[in-house]
Amino acid sequence: MRRKNNKSISRLFEEIIETLYVTGKKIRLRKVRISDAQAEYTWRTDLELVRLDAATLLATPFAHFLLDYGTTLRFISNRHRFAVETLDGKHIGNCMYYNINDTSNEAEIGIMIGDRDYWEKGYGTDAVTALVNYVFRRTDIKRIHLKTLDWNLRAQQCFKKCGFKPYGRLNRDGYTFMLMELYRKQRIDQPKESSRFSSEVA
Ligand SMILES: CC(C)(COP(=O)(O)OP(=O)(O)OC[C@H]1O[C@@H](n2cnc3c(N)ncnc32)[C@H](O)[C@@H]1OP(=O)(O)O)[C@@H](O)C(=O)NCCC(=O)NCCS
Repeated sequence: MRRKNNKSISRLFEEIIETLYVTGKKIRLRKVRISDAQAEYTWRTDLELVRLDAATLLATPFAHFLLDYGTTLRFISNRHRFAVETLDGKHIGNCMYYNINDTSNEAEIGIMIGDRDYWEKGYGTDAVTALVNYVFRRTDIKRIHLKTLDWNLRAQQCFKKCGFKPYGRLNRDGYTFMLMELYRKQRIDQPKESSRFSSEVA
């Protein structure tokens, strides 16, 4: 009886920790905070990053951005946003899952490693792996998809290393995107709730 209680306490503890951090081999994901606004503003006003992300260069002053950022954090619940940190706590980027379809059990993901010092060192692959493992373990989502610019070969290679496969192209707003997908059943090691936390995530 006591052993059973100890086990459920340790499971509960793991779940509490998981709501704070999802840990990979090189990174950890945590919930976005208002104090992340400055870094995100810097990245969203960086022409090269915006171009790689097929986004629009942010033109609003930081004060306005901060107001919107706070509101989005508090009220928009269909975007699950995470900060990407190195294991020693340096904030290097963001990722999220969003566009959740509860009928087809699908969601889209996005990622940006904003700090160039951390490009091409495996941080993106580790962050995406941790994110998809988290989604498959903690939700009913069965298919994760994403879009990336057809010329962004670094991003495509990163997603391929995480198991994503191309399934089509999309022309939108003058951009051509490669569409990629990953099914839960492709990751036979990740049925919902089957695995535990921390270093086993990635
Ligand atoms: C895209 C991004 C998430 C990838 O993360 P990362 O940490 O840089 O990538 P990783 O080191 O994990 O993997 C990159 C892979 O692409 C490869 N690569 C780099 N340039 C390449 C190119 N021109 N052609 C083919 N492969 C390339 C790298 O060699 C590496 O593969 P390898 O480990 O097999 O050698 C990150 O670079 C990023 O956020 N960039 C800025 C924003 C961006 O591009 N956003 C688009 C997201 S859709």
